[in-house]
Amino acid sequence: MSRILAAAALTAAAAAAPVAQEVENPFSDPPDRRAGQGSFGVHCSLCHGADAQGGGETNGPDLTTGRFRRTSTLAGLFNIIRDGVEGTAMLGIDPDEPDRVVWQIITYLDSLTPNPTDIDLPGDAETGQALFTGRGNCAACHMVNGRGGRLGPDLSRVAERRDPDELRADLLDPDAAVEPRWWTVVATTADGAVVEGLRMGEDTFTLRLIDADERLRSFSKRELRSYERSKASTMPSVRGTLAAGEVDDLIAYLFTLRK
Ligand code: HEC
Ligand code: HEC
Repeated sequence: MSRILAAAALTAAAAAAPVAQEVENPFSDPPDRRAGQGSFGVHCSLCHGADAQGGGETNGPDLTTGRFRRTSTLAGLFNIIRDGVEGTAMLGIDPDEPDRVVWQIITYLDSLTPNPTDIDLPGDAETGQALFTGRGNCAACHMVNGRGGRLGPDLSRVAERRDPDELRADLLDPDAAVEPRWWTVVATTADGAVVEGLRMGEDTFTLRLIDADERLRSFSKRELRSYERSKASTMPSVRGTLAAGEVDDLIAYLFTLRK
């Protein structure tokens, strides 16, 4: 297997592996919630506030929004509480405490977050799903539950991290805040051909990108006439191609994917 193919296979495997999302909280009954609240008061409230809404002298963040800056998975949340966040005031819980206590705290935190079914969405999820795989062309770039393209982030659980307004902004203004991982590269080869894609890697001598057909391309920098990185997204805005109601439908669809 060539190195390029090996790299492509590696990225594919990395993208497809769900990050331990199958983990389930084994201590999630009402008595666990009460125990978790008690443990939170003992171990966490000093920094995260008595009701977990943050503040306090030590400035621990609000933990009631249902979304965390450091992780988007249950396993990730568990690890933060168990082991802490290196280099910050967030130390892991006392190692003598059993995992059960961590799970119970998570159950307590979970009970504070807004219930997804409370969110009233105007769109129609079924129409949204049809748009996603059909005319909206979203599936060309985005994976949902293992199906779709790899030119954008997996959207299976995006609605657990983004609220409806944020999702609307993602669709209307994709260029607004693009993570470096999704920056675009435009390379012009010596014979004038222009290749555009996602930057996969770069060192002193070579530039690797994935083009719109999901082909991994590798260029020797010396052979390129020029190349340019752009903080813009490769995702086209839906402004002008989809009606406002259709955007609502897509958002409703993405919300049905929440677990
Ligand atoms: C000494 C203060 C302190 C204590 C005690 C503490 N935390 Fe934290 N915690 C922090 C700070 C500060 C951060 C922000 C760290 C960062 O990401 O920069 C944080 C971050 C977190 C995060 C990640 C938040 C995010 O948005 O990614 C979680 C979850 C968390 N704490 C849960 C807990 C729990 C549960 C406890 C009790 C077992 C606890 N913390 C105890 C100070 C504390
Ligand atoms: C040409 C590829 C492409 C197409 C087509 C595309 N996207 Fe994207 N999308 C991306 C990329 C790349 C990103 C990450 C960069 C960014 O934030 O714009 C992204 C980001 C997103 C995000 C934010 C994800 C996050 O993790 O915060 C959402 C939501 C989204 N797209 C939904 C859609 C929907 C719905 C459609 C169909 C109407 C669509 N995309 C069409 C490539 C695409």
